[in-house]
Amino acid sequence: MPNSHSNSYFDSISDDENGKSKNHVQHLRNSSFTIMDMLSFGQLSQAIYIVAKFRIADYLKNGPKSVEELAEQSKTHPDSLYRLLRMLSSVGIFTESVEKEDGEKVINNNNKRKFDMTPKAALLQSETKGSIRNFALMFGLESFNRAINDLSYSIETGENSFKHANGLDMFEYFQQDQNRKDAQIFNSAMASLTSSYASSISSMYDFSQFNTVVDIGGGQGILLSILLKNNPNLSGILFDLPHAIESAKNQHINESTNSRSEDSKDFLSRCKLVEGDFFKSIPLGADGYIIKNVILNWDDDSAATILKNCSQAMEKTKSKATTSTTTMTVNDASQDDDKQNKNNPKLLIIDLIMPEGNKPFIGKFIDIVMLALTHKGRIRTEKEFHKLLNSSGFNITKIIHPSDNDNFLSIIEAIPSSSNQIILHDIT
Ligand SMILES: C[S@@+](CC[C@H](N)C(=O)[O-])C[C@H]1O[C@@H](n2cnc3c(N)ncnc32)[C@H](O)[C@@H]1O
Repeated sequence: MPNSHSNSYFDSISDDENGKSKNHVQHLRNSSFTIMDMLSFGQLSQAIYIVAKFRIADYLKNGPKSVEELAEQSKTHPDSLYRLLRMLSSVGIFTESVEKEDGEKVINNNNKRKFDMTPKAALLQSETKGSIRNFALMFGLESFNRAINDLSYSIETGENSFKHANGLDMFEYFQQDQNRKDAQIFNSAMASLTSSYASSISSMYDFSQFNTVVDIGGGQGILLSILLKNNPNLSGILFDLPHAIESAKNQHINESTNSRSEDSKDFLSRCKLVEGDFFKSIPLGADGYIIKNVILNWDDDSAATILKNCSQAMEKTKSKATTSTTTMTVNDASQDDDKQNKNNPKLLIIDLIMPEGNKPFIGKFIDIVMLALTHKGRIRTEKEFHKLLNSSGFNITKIIHPSDNDNFLSIIEAIPSSSNQIILHDIT
């Protein structure tokens, strides 16, 4: 269990006003975390999942509540809930208010045990900006936990423990009718994570240069909807497996019909939703090909197949645009610009890049999750990305690293190597 000495990691974390520790992995390295502290992390992630499941943060939205009230609302056992919230309060998720009666601290009186929100806990509310409640819910999936608990199988064999524990590769598993609920939780988890970073990604790169962007394996379309919102002349194509497209469609249709979101109406009017398999083909017709948090799910051979399919789609789109440009008679500058971009489509891989050496990086933890959950997926170094892209028919033109601490995704811009553009290798 975490110990209570004053210089432990749990005491040393400082929050910014959004409740995110400045660099949580840096803290891990520099703190006096003991092995005993670290061994309790599994309980910590389960505890966070449980409070997300029982919506405890939602019940605290309007102010502190006693544990009895919280237990009644969440239909949980009061004393057990108290113990869980006490543990979480010790790491800054919720805070226990100690009431005083006649100047005396009353901490053993069950009726007086109250809890309040903290910035970290606020991120576990369901309807709040930057909410990661849906991501926390993924930590309760049995299929996910079976794989994580079977990690030693991956370390022994190099094979995917998700398949060992659940019988199928993760994305095949999610496509089975009986696993739709797991798929929904996974898709919502990804959407929740993406919505935390979408604005930061949108400001890292000039997406207004494109006419149409396709988001390959784009999940619920969260990134696309932000890009379309921020770039009024942009059109989108959301491309994913059938179950993911169906769920994205339902989500956006529900939001727009409940008139909860003008953004969803706008999204549906400017974005095509296309189902398919990126191992077979990728939609034509875009000048920006975005692939976010997908390449890390696959081994080099599979990733190369996806990228070669991107390159083919880009080449076909380019040759179609070139043919129509040469036959174009209308002297319309904007149309001309449109064709210009289609002549030179770009690939944007938005992903984590593994730093070399001992540098602390959240990606080193996510890499282990990839090892357990995916088909030999991994987080790649810059060198590994160059090698992968070169072998798949691309040259890297630019790499943009995130400038704020809360976003750990970089943008790798690449063009097909057959293209005659200048290769900048401008690593910023
Ligand atoms: C880790 S999620 C990333 C989702 C989204 N890009 C994001 O960043 O939130 C990987 C996505 O790849 C999709 N995917 C997996 N296999 C696929 C395939 N064969 N064809 C198309 N999409 C696929 C999944 O359905 C999922 O939406």
